[in-house]
Amino acid sequence: MELDKVISTRFSVRSYTNQKVERSLILEILEAARLAPSAVNFQPWHFIVITDHENLEDLHEVYQRAWFREAPACLVICSDHSKSWKRKSDGKDFADVDVAIAIDHLVLKATDLGIGSCWICNFDVPLARKKLKLPDEIEPLAIISIGYTTAGPPLKSRKSLKEMVHWEKFGTH
Ligand SMILES: Cc1cc2nc3c(=O)[nH]c(=O)nc-3n(C[C@H](O)[C@H](O)[C@H](O)COP(=O)(O)O)c2cc1C
Repeated sequence: MELDKVISTRFSVRSYTNQKVERSLILEILEAARLAPSAVNFQPWHFIVITDHENLEDLHEVYQRAWFREAPACLVICSDHSKSWKRKSDGKDFADVDVAIAIDHLVLKATDLGIGSCWICNFDVPLARKKLKLPDEIEPLAIISIGYTTAGPPLKSRKSLKEMVHWEKFGTH
């Protein structure tokens, strides 16, 4: 698919068929994340792939939505705060920025392969940490549900460019 088409047809998929996502396609999706840029190329991320029925059932407890139960696979995307770049001038930790870029890569790759996905951040993080046995420095930043869908992209509701673009100085539209 053309990049413009991938970007415009990606949408948050909240309804899935029961068709499984082939392991080879999951690996292609993860490869797109692996190639993402990161600050100082530190690549401070881990991807936990969940496809086993029992493990998916268990994971549903951290985000109890009927549609989430339909997803045949989930990727729990983690920031590794022990490996990320911290800016000297103010100590800012770039782990989440890096991980968000990797997630965008994988979500766009999934779209290109005809696979739907949805970012999920509104989940019970302490419970997820416990279930996945995460060490302290590893933060589960997002769960990405993936699977096939019969739903089509809704009309995109977005602010206009004029509202967000400033020319030369803030406030000059
Ligand atoms: C950081 C982030 C967190 C999100 N968390 C959730 C979530 O917990 N549950 C959910 O249903 N959608 C979640 N979404 C999806 C957004 O609601 C969705 O991207 C937005 O409404 C735009 O719709 P679209 O993705 O269909 O273009 C999240 C998206 C992002 C980028």
